[in-house]
Amino acid sequence: MIIGSVRVHHEKVSSTNTVAALLLNGPKPVEGTVITASFQEKGRGQTGNGWESEAGKNLLMSVILYPLTVRAEDQFIISQTVSLALYDLVRQQTSGVKIKWPNDIYVKDDKIAGILIENSIMGNSIVSTVAGIGLNVNQKRWKGSAPNPVSLANLTGREYDPVKILDDLVRLLDERYAMATGNAADRLSADYHDALYRRGEWHHYADAEGEFTGMIESAGAGGLLRVRRENGISRDYAFKEIDYIL
Ligand code: BTN
Repeated sequence: MIIGSVRVHHEKVSSTNTVAALLLNGPKPVEGTVITASFQEKGRGQTGNGWESEAGKNLLMSVILYPLTVRAEDQFIISQTVSLALYDLVRQQTSGVKIKWPNDIYVKDDKIAGILIENSIMGNSIVSTVAGIGLNVNQKRWKGSAPNPVSLANLTGREYDPVKILDDLVRLLDERYAMATGNAADRLSADYHDALYRRGEWHHYADAEGEFTGMIESAGAGGLLRVRRENGISRDYAFKEIDYIL
């Protein structure tokens, strides 16, 4: 196993992604090193948002990877890898699990996990990746402005053992990472396609030109989201160029 051969737990950190980035500034950490925390004082989400998580309730982790066989232009494979591992895990507990492009894990229309991937790129190579994962496990209520958080406990009424959840996720991540770095990137893409939230359904979206009704067709090469309009014309969107109207 590559993932989780080294594990470091902190009671309190600023952000596990920040701790991982600091480790990468020193002697090279072992690939697959996992950093977890019970609480983050400055949990970071995508696009500068925070990440709310009550102390000791959820899974907060970052994994250090060196995906040398993945070209920088194919870095979406890393998003697919981590999303699918979380998707696999959540699906073991409940139904209606999907991946909202690019890498949120949804159960029906609620968000159960978020991923913050920070790559260090040189030329066409990914020198290192920090894959940060926040999975809502035992938290029941949220104080902040997150629109639609949900946890495993909310969905099933059960209380989960965070150590068991971490062990399961590490194993699933290891399996998916082996696909990414081996010859199974096509299967990874196919699985991601199958899991894609709202694929093949008509829903409301907004882009720079305003609101529209569209149908997600795929998340293809380069990780762009392809959305078809009612007039039959499709357009590819990069992250943040399109908003989902929930
Ligand atoms: C998102 O906005 O959906 C991404 C959230 C990622 C949160 C996780 S929690 C562990 C790791 N450390 C952070 O500061 N962020 C990620």
